[in-house]
Amino acid sequence: MTTKTPIRVAVTGAAGNIGYALLFRIASGEMFGKDQPVILQLLEIPVEGPQKALKGVAMELEDCAFPLLQDMVLTGEAEVAFKDVNWALLVGSKPRGPGMERADLLKDNGKIFIAQGKAIDAVAADNARVAVVGNPCNTNVMIAANQAKRLPKDRFTAMVRLDENRGRAQLAKKAGVSINDVSDLFIYGNHSPTMFADFTHAKIGGKDAASVIGDEAWLKNEYLPAVGKRGAAIIEARGLSSAASAANALIDHVRDLNTVGAIHSVAVDSQGRYGFAEGVWAGMPVKTTAPGAYEVITSYEMDDFAKSKIALTNDELVGERETIKDLLV
Ligand code: NAD
Ligand code: LMR
Repeated sequence: MTTKTPIRVAVTGAAGNIGYALLFRIASGEMFGKDQPVILQLLEIPVEGPQKALKGVAMELEDCAFPLLQDMVLTGEAEVAFKDVNWALLVGSKPRGPGMERADLLKDNGKIFIAQGKAIDAVAADNARVAVVGNPCNTNVMIAANQAKRLPKDRFTAMVRLDENRGRAQLAKKAGVSINDVSDLFIYGNHSPTMFADFTHAKIGGKDAASVIGDEAWLKNEYLPAVGKRGAAIIEARGLSSAASAANALIDHVRDLNTVGAIHSVAVDSQGRYGFAEGVWAGMPVKTTAPGAYEVITSYEMDDFAKSKIALTNDELVGERETIKDLLV
């Protein structure tokens, strides 16, 4: 039996599709470790249907008899959900449907992150960390972080790990190797079709991925768009946006942010790195330096092609910021 103090984890949109694929894995120890007890603080919109569905999910969590799940809080109020939390996982928001881009959600979803950013800053634990999944996640995290007066901006991250996982999987498939042979593939920029999955520094079996694949045209003209538009392809095939793979990526995102030495793609406050505009949140490689803390790896030299891709995704991030500028203080 573990003697660790439980950590408090808020999950918003807990009765949604990603919530259903996520909560059971958190409660079983896949996100924070098999000896780390958790208290789940679950937020849903304060209306009957979602609140009832949330109760049902909580009943199922109870029925799993997870040894690590110490308690649950079910609520429709942000200040209750984020009270004393060590991690806030912001999933709750509208997903896109067929034919939409994630940016089409900006106006609807953006305002959710004002209230939630404010509530987190007011009531979360001093060591609180925030991971945003709700789309468009780069701009939503910027909106939330913009409300923070107490918590530093580097505590606010958004998820591009699903893109990294997709990018690695597609390289492994093309090369006919195990996923474990693909490394150093990092995502730059927006979680959108403009993202740059940097194959130029990726490795397959420790060798330069581009030379192992041996087909630059495929990498530029097929691979990049396939990774960038994978979310839309899933929506087209499933009729719903990705949920299990998104939940899985969030587990990877948070677990690796707590694993010292892990190197992984995270959307962070760019601070002008890699040519991104100051103040936008852009995907880039980070190295975890202490549980929850990271430094951005800035040593990758970009060639002209990579620079042009980064410029494109940066332009989109700047455009999104312009669209929601009324939501920033
Ligand atoms: P869903 O519609 O199944 O569930 C969303 C849930 O959020 C719903 O239950 C809804 O009631 C709740 N919700 C809405 N507003 C809320 C608020 N203000 N507070 C609390 N809860 C609220 O959607 P889903 O499939 O779970 O997707 C959730 C979000 O995640 C979408 O925006 C989707 O586009 C995004 N997403 C991001 C990634 C990524 O890689 N970043 C991947 C997949 C999905
Ligand atoms: C994804 O990448 O699967 C999600 O962001 C959902 C979407 O709208 O594409």
